[in-house]
Amino acid sequence: MKGIILHGGHGTRLRPLTHTGPKQLLPIANKPMSQYALEDLKTAGITDIGIIIGDVHPDKVKEYYGDGQKFGVTITYIYQDQPKGISHAISLCKDFVGNDKFVVYLGDNVLRKNLVDYVKNFQNSESDALILLCKVDDPQRFGIAELGKTPGKIKKIIEKPKIPISDLAVIGIYFLTPKIFDIINQLKPSWRGELEITDALQLLMDKKNKIEYDVVTGWWKDTGTPEDIIHANKLVLDSIGTENQFLIDADSAIKDNIVIGNGTEISNDSFVVGPAIIGKNCKIGPAVKIGPYVSIGENCILKNCTVEDSIIMNDCTINTTTNLSCSIIAHGSEIIDSKTKKNQFLLGERSNIRI
Ligand code: DAU
Repeated sequence: MKGIILHGGHGTRLRPLTHTGPKQLLPIANKPMSQYALEDLKTAGITDIGIIIGDVHPDKVKEYYGDGQKFGVTITYIYQDQPKGISHAISLCKDFVGNDKFVVYLGDNVLRKNLVDYVKNFQNSESDALILLCKVDDPQRFGIAELGKTPGKIKKIIEKPKIPISDLAVIGIYFLTPKIFDIINQLKPSWRGELEITDALQLLMDKKNKIEYDVVTGWWKDTGTPEDIIHANKLVLDSIGTENQFLIDADSAIKDNIVIGNGTEISNDSFVVGPAIIGKNCKIGPAVKIGPYVSIGENCILKNCTVEDSIIMNDCTINTTTNLSCSIIAHGSEIIDSKTKKNQFLLGERSNIRI
């Protein structure tokens, strides 16, 4: 079986964080979110992986994943000139897929449960697709499935319905066969101008092909907004010490639910409340309180601050008595208390500050 990770799209809802890189490389618990997808596929035995790259810094994706060797997989990059839809992205993978069954994983989806059993079952099944469903509070944001009266049957799949037909969202992990390519050829762009995956699945059903589903019980997160990313960070950090898939880093030590990278120094008058992760070579102190639910990248300097529910990426300096909460601070940022009475800001486009 082959794997495809979608790493294109514009990521507009995550600006300014996505001005300098694709959203799927934003870190959750110090790991790019798409790496969870890649590791999920690898754990399920899928090592031949195609990555769809778009026009938001595709170079950064190639630089990070390379040929895949470092991650124990083989990567083929497939270029999508514009985000014309998930089905469009899949259609570009026809040659890569050949006659194999395959799994499409949206690079901004993080799922707690691994895919091992699903991959095994789908490999041996007669079905033309397997989709995963998850109960959500806000069905208007997702592709939604309505179940039929016959057990195991899906009646309808609709993209972001204004009036929801159910609360079962279609997760962004799709198990497919090459039959889908012919189906995608017959699709028309939706109201948002995209070839939708939900339309492809609906047409696959309309043409009497067999679709299976499973309703997942653990958490699943689509990280479309900054709030989603902070929430995903929380969910992943909650698994420190229990879920190896999230934290396999030879350069760090885990104590209870706190991970600390090599070379990181924490002053005696500072303290960390888990769950939290701090990368390599950070200097923490004096008088710092970190946590709970904080991820700090490598080479950061933190002084005098209190940080909770936040993500601080690599190479940041924070020296302020202002509390940081529910914040995402991108690479190389500085937050420093002003010595004068004047506050000075140097912010990128569409920055967001609440003081
Ligand atoms: O997260 C699950 C949802 O994902 C499903 O419930 C929906 O049915 C499905 O359409 C999708 O909805 P979104 O509106 O959240 O999709 P988004 O535009 O955010 O794209 C999902 C991922 O695929 C994201 O990582 C970007 C990538 N992508 C997207 C498009 C449209 C591409 O690589 N190429 C594309 O053309």
